[in-house]
Amino acid sequence: MAAQYIQYKGIKFPPGYNSVENLSFAENDFEVRDDDTFIVTYPKSGTVWMIEILSLILSGGNPVWNQSVLNSSRAPWFTTQLGLKAAHKLPSPRLLTCHLPIQIFPRTFFSSKAQVVYTLRDPRDVLVSYYHFSKMCLPFENPKSFHCFLESFLSGDVPFGSWFDHVTGWMKLKGKSNLLFISYDELKQDLYGIVERLCHFLGKNLDEAAITSVVENTSFEAMRRNDMCNSTMLPKEFMDQEKGTFLRKGVCGDWKTHFTVAQSEYFDRVYQEKMLGLKGIFPWEQTGPENNSERGVNF
Ligand code: A3P
Repeated sequence: MAAQYIQYKGIKFPPGYNSVENLSFAENDFEVRDDDTFIVTYPKSGTVWMIEILSLILSGGNPVWNQSVLNSSRAPWFTTQLGLKAAHKLPSPRLLTCHLPIQIFPRTFFSSKAQVVYTLRDPRDVLVSYYHFSKMCLPFENPKSFHCFLESFLSGDVPFGSWFDHVTGWMKLKGKSNLLFISYDELKQDLYGIVERLCHFLGKNLDEAAITSVVENTSFEAMRRNDMCNSTMLPKEFMDQEKGTFLRKGVCGDWKTHFTVAQSEYFDRVYQEKMLGLKGIFPWEQTGPENNSERGVNF
């Protein structure tokens, strides 16, 4: 049966946890605090990974909070009813999570000192991860085929809208001191270095042992073992764990095992067209090992 998506300002949202009222509240009435840190992503870009990293940084590298409290309580999805309640209860400084595109992000953020960590990922890997996720996450429409999903993704006809619009929208704020762009690809390449960068951004002084603890506790394997973040605690009506695993592969370049040559060329044509003006600055656009040292340099 086709999922009955919620529509808000021309964008689809999965039913269940989302409603027009809650989305409107998030945009217009949510009170941002100056010491809030927002984890913002397009789906499947490393949201849950960033929640783990930032929770550990706030805990000074001590894993107890991450191992004893669900990620949705540590960094609530304030655009949902339950998440909003949790967000209101959290003491400052809060971590908050969402997939909101810039045009419907809480208005009060723009006159606040709150910070945003925006994580982005090679859109071809996002697409593959999103395809598998849509098959196991019940509020999402089950894709008819990989190719159908690719078409929907490229036209922006998927929940949370177009990846291209999301990324280009947020990139317009690049250069603002309260925004940090991090790519999944960089997290994979140099987690220690990115944790250092995040600590600097958040004004947190962690010593080497604490940073090492953040790195160790946020490895793919450690997160898979931690029920507070591996999604196994989610209700059956939301996620069918028999159809897949939320922490699925955790690699860069999995698109190569899914795309045909024709699909890859098709993707590239759309990408070139939609990313005009921003092309050449993302880690996945750098080819060859000789460019590794420069990856992410423009973020
Ligand atoms: P895959 O489906 O490619 O494995 P999100 O949290 O935004 O929904 O993103 C989920 C994706 O991030 C999944 O990608 C998941 O495996 C990956 N991920 C989460 N934690 C990770 C980690 N510690 N290391 C590598 N990938 C991770």
